[in-house]
Parts: sequence; C-alpha cells; structure tokens
Amino acid sequence: MGRARKLSIFTARPGMVLANDIVTKDGQVLLTHGIQLTNQKIYYLLKRRIPFVDVVCDNWLSTEADSGDKAQISNQTDYYLFYQETLQAFKHAFETARFSKQLPLTLITKLVDSHIGPLINARCSIGYLQRIQVHCDYTYRHSINVSIISGILGKLVGMTKGNLKDLVTAGLLHDIGKVSIPTEILNKPGRLTDREMLTIKTHPSKGYELLLQSDQIAAEIKIGVLQHHERIDGSGYPFGLTENQIGYYAKIIAIADIYDAMTSDRIYRKRLSPFCAAETIVQQMYTQLDPLLCLTFLRHIKNYLSSSMVLLSNGQKGEVVYLNDLFTSKPTIKLVDGTYLDLRENKTVEIMDIAK
Ligand SMILES: [Fe+2]
Repeated sequence: MGRARKLSIFTARPGMVLANDIVTKDGQVLLTHGIQLTNQKIYYLLKRRIPFVDVVCDNWLSTEADSGDKAQISNQTDYYLFYQETLQAFKHAFETARFSKQLPLTLITKLVDSHIGPLINARCSIGYLQRIQVHCDYTYRHSINVSIISGILGKLVGMTKGNLKDLVTAGLLHDIGKVSIPTEILNKPGRLTDREMLTIKTHPSKGYELLLQSDQIAAEIKIGVLQHHERIDGSGYPFGLTENQIGYYAKIIAIADIYDAMTSDRIYRKRLSPFCAAETIVQQMYTQLDPLLCLTFLRHIKNYLSSSMVLLSNGQKGEVVYLNDLFTSKPTIKLVDGTYLDLRENKTVEIMDIAK
C-alpha cells in the first residue's frame, strides 16, 4: 500500500482507499483501512461528523505536489514531442487493429504507461492539448486526447492507480470500433446520410467485440468502450441505457469525448472555443451527463480558462478576469486598452478562441 495523505472529508472522493481505520472519539471503528470509499461511505462519515480521512497516495499518476520519479513534462515543447511520439505509436496500433482485426495489446499497455501517464501529469495538460489541435489524423488524436482528459478527470475524482490505468486504457480505445467502419464514411467531409450515421453508431459495439477477444483486458475497460455514447436520460446508444445502468468509466469518457470533439478542428468545421464546449457540458449535465463529474471537470477547466488571453468575434483581444461556473462562455474580459467587457451583458460579442 502507498503512502498516506490526510484529506478533508469534503475533498475525499469515491475510489480513494483508506490508509487508516476511522475511529470515533469513543473508540468505535466506523470503517477499516483498505476499504475503498464510495459516495455512500463518504456521506456516512459526513453524518458521523468525521472531519478528516487518511487515504492511500498512489504514485503512478501523481498529484502535482507528489510527482514521484516518473517522467515529467515541464514545457510545451516537451509536451508536443511526447504527444507526437504517442500519436505515431497509436496510429500504428490502430492501423494494425484495422488490418489484422486484433488489438496489439502489449503496445497499448506500454503506451499508457510510458506516454499517456506523463501527458496526464503535465501541469498544463488541458492547455497544451488545446494548442496542438489540428484537423488531420482526427480519429487517432481524438483517442489520445480523450484518454488524457479522462485520466485528468479520473485523477480529480481520486481514482486508485489500477482504476485510473483501466480508465485511461478505455479512453484510448473508446473509438477502436471505428477500425470496422469504412474510411470513406469516417473521413467524409460533408453531412452523413441516415444510413451512414447508423453505420457510425455501430462503433461502440464493434469495439466491444474486438476487445472481447482478449481475456487480459479488464471487463470494466470493455464496458467503458461499449457504453461511452450512452446518456443518463436514456437518449444514448447502442442500448439507450439510463443512469445506474451506465458504468463510471463510460460517464467520464462521455465528458472527455464531448469536450475534445467540440474543441478539435474537423474537416467540415473549425474548432469551437473551450468556453463554448464547457457551456455545452453545463447544458447537458442535468440531463445526459453525470452532474458531479461535470462539476469536477468544469472547475478544472475554469482554473485553466481564468486569466487566459482570448480572441473575440469583434477582432479584439483580452484577458479573462471573471468566469462564472455555469456561464462559462460569457466571462468578463479585460481588453488590451484596459476597459472591461462583460459578455453576459454584451451579447453581440463572443469568444472565438484562446489567443496563442
Ligand atoms: Fe465514440
């Protein structure tokens, strides 16, 4: 078991493992060490007025303060180089799966350990990702980005090492079923016909079938891939599952998938700003997505977007000085001439992109 970290009960998250027994002042043991926290257990401890818990500190995907001895990426150039290596390796794995109909599992496992982990741990990972969006190689890039963003979210909710690795692997493989979709449909620049859309929608099941071939892939990874387009109101596919029927990995991957798809350049449209993507997540968080996961993600995005320089639709540039959690696309901007512009008041101007 790793080292212990003392946390306020308010920052404890499901998936964290207790490093010590939780004992009341009168000696009653409420929970024993080694137990994994769940929402119910955290709520139980809150009701018993337990202020702190000691949780096991895992090092594979470390916190920023606890970086261990893993490869560290400290600047944008290193991030870019690491990302390009990851892209080439994943492209090879994806194309191998397309032609052989078998997954090169050793390569995928290695890639998660040696490359995706450090990319997740990089201090400004979401910001760096934003700067390297280009429309070519979309399917490969999107898989890597969803894996990284899922890992960031998994870390934020305090997942254990094993769960985090499985989540990141599921994120990387979430669209692997697209190896069975004709490339003319996958890369079609225009609007898809109803028939083509139906074909695209088979990719979660196709991916699941491909992963089923391997006993070495955890069932949770397979389920994460199968369910990543399910939505908690039952509007998703392939089965129209609802809230409790959808696994935790799939709920995380769904958020990462939406965010990355919206903020990526595509053949048929330019990327939308992260402010716009965050607002879409706000709109869907009470109907289609897991609200607690959305709030955690939005808080992280808010940290990255606050103080960022942005390009506005009227051609001006400015710095984000105030960002409301639930009105993410309408912050207050300090323009370069020193004046302020509240985008909630001025509805004719919008943010086009982050200024590079
Ligand atoms: Fe997908």
